[in-house]
Amino acid sequence: MLAAFAVRADAEAPLDALVVGAIEPPSAPAGWARVHVKAAALNHHDVWSLRGVGLGADRLPMILGCDAAGTTDDGREVIVHAVINSPDFVGTDATYDPQRSLLSERYPGTFATQVWVPPANLVDKPPELDFAEAACLPTAWLTAYRMLFRQSGAKPGDTVLIQGAGGGVATALIALARQAGMRVWVTSRDEARGARAVRLGAHQAFPAGALLPERVDAVMDGVGAATWSHSINVLKPGGTLVICGATSGDNPPKAELTKIFFKPLRVIGSVMGTRHELISLTRMLVATGARPHIDRILPLADAAAGFAAMIAGDHFGKIIFEP
Ligand SMILES: NC(=O)c1ccc[n+]([C@@H]2O[C@H](COP(=O)([O-])OP(=O)(O)OC[C@H]3O[C@@H](n4cnc5c(N)ncnc54)[C@H](OP(=O)(O)O)[C@@H]3O)[C@@H](O)[C@H]2O)c1
Repeated sequence: MLAAFAVRADAEAPLDALVVGAIEPPSAPAGWARVHVKAAALNHHDVWSLRGVGLGADRLPMILGCDAAGTTDDGREVIVHAVINSPDFVGTDATYDPQRSLLSERYPGTFATQVWVPPANLVDKPPELDFAEAACLPTAWLTAYRMLFRQSGAKPGDTVLIQGAGGGVATALIALARQAGMRVWVTSRDEARGARAVRLGAHQAFPAGALLPERVDAVMDGVGAATWSHSINVLKPGGTLVICGATSGDNPPKAELTKIFFKPLRVIGSVMGTRHELISLTRMLVATGARPHIDRILPLADAAAGFAAMIAGDHFGKIIFEP
């Protein structure tokens, strides 16, 4: 079957670790359901995998991709929840399972014509969303939903700063925060990308690291080292920084410990979300009319072009592959 998969790890030239071509279809773990992929969405996670982050050499070759929407063998239209729990996990929050993995970390991912998942990881696709829109939800949009509505404590009327305007998580945060009645500010390294974020729903865009007109109630940050100090400095006393990633590195030049305790601030890490949150997210999109901003849709055979755009930071919103 056609798939996009990692054959090795290459920290410096991740595209060199990618193969798009034929691979033996993976065998089905007992009791798992097959999803015929109609659309799959690219995440920065897939680039990390090619760089060897979170994907050991013993698991190669590995079909990449966390996110998919498609149909089951009996024709049900579904979205795949990408967080795979260990069979021994008994808690109610999938993200607290220390043995959890995302599709493409331990089990083959979604950049293929078909993917096997536990039946509990299937969520009905609302007819109001097309397959490409639905494929955007399981990673970037679910992460954004949980950051905003579970972790940040931000309320309608609060000001939320989103670091990095054009990423998959960032564009989801802009849309969700706007729909929730928050004042939405973004930063970008690029003026034109900031302007695009405003067209997408942000109230105002600022250059990366800019002095803001006033301090904010919450900051959403997936950029990491490059924005850490700014995120700490722009918060009001009692404000909340929610972090979900470290695209620019995870070792900021200044830890800012004194500011964190003295202001005082809350710093909260967030990863993915639960199946229930994914269902709530689909309901929010249906109720509000908000939809993922899709940068481009490519045939799966051209997946390398999508990866190249993400590595170069050329994309704005989500990149979709269709098998
Ligand atoms: N915790 C989780 O569950 C979870 C889920 C999804 C993603 N993540 C992580 O969150 C991060 C974003 O993911 P994504 O899929 O949205 O990635 P993406 O689409 O590639 O977006 C990257 C974002 O980072 C900004 N950026 C990149 N390098 C930067 C730098 N040196 N300085 C300032 N801004 C920079 C870009 O903003 P500009 O507009 O300025 O270019 C863009 O908004 C990744 O690290 C990913 O692994 C974590």
